[in-house]
Amino acid sequence: MTTEIEIVRTVADLRAKVAAWRANGETVAMVPTMGAIHEGHMSLVRQAKGLADRVVSSIFVNPLQFGPSEDFEAYPRGEARDAELLASAGAELLYAPNAREMYPDGFSTTVHVADLTEDLCRRERPDHFDGVATVVAKLLLQCGPDIAIFGEKDYQQLLIIKRLVRDLNIPVEIVGGAIVRESDGLALSSRNAYLSDAERETAPLLRAAIHQAAQQMAAGDASEAALKNARAALEAAGFRVDYLEARDPQTLAPLSGAASSARILVAAFLGQTRLIDNMSVPPQA
Ligand code: PAF
Repeated sequence: MTTEIEIVRTVADLRAKVAAWRANGETVAMVPTMGAIHEGHMSLVRQAKGLADRVVSSIFVNPLQFGPSEDFEAYPRGEARDAELLASAGAELLYAPNAREMYPDGFSTTVHVADLTEDLCRRERPDHFDGVATVVAKLLLQCGPDIAIFGEKDYQQLLIIKRLVRDLNIPVEIVGGAIVRESDGLALSSRNAYLSDAERETAPLLRAAIHQAAQQMAAGDASEAALKNARAALEAAGFRVDYLEARDPQTLAPLSGAASSARILVAAFLGQTRLIDNMSVPPQA
């Protein structure tokens, strides 16, 4: 049986729907996505459903957050399937604007969060977070939800969005959603589809390596020693490590020596595919 979800494509229609809910005294949660919906997104929608009366999800493959040699054209798109999955998780409304609705002719504003964006993913993807911050600010202002949920897999992104909402006084609570993993530990990501069979077999080592490092740090080892072991394990398995670091969980400031509370963040290539993951210290699972 097909689950119903209403689709709106303009800011005006989105605002009219949200205003009607508000007139009934209902609260609204938003789950922004770029589509290619998987269980990770669906868990965010379920979480949203537990926190608000109504859930609106958005699908917009945001050209501003892709670099010139990245996968904007190839990014998986399939609105009908995505809409069904979002509906089955509990979303009532799908906002799916086109690029002209999001960035009309003459669009000339960029949102740049200076702190938190200077390294980690920015080294490999210099304009990525400006693109994310710009579209997320727009989505939140277009919809006006009480709560918006973003996955912890993109941990740096989550902190940047919290900072932008605070700095710009956007009246919304930003909530993180726990990473959803395959049974072998690989964090769910739309880009996992790019992995060859052999790469897919190797990929769970990413989580295993940072989990081991998190355990070592929780046991009192210096971050340098824990990360050195993790890097060696990843490189031996064929990963090309972009970054592998222990950071302050709130400010992302670099940590050195022993630290009982930290976030380990990693980005590594398997073949052409760049995977990211992260783990709290002490580790949760
Ligand atoms: O995490 C994502 O899917 C995207 O970066 C987001 C937050 C929807 C902005 O395009």
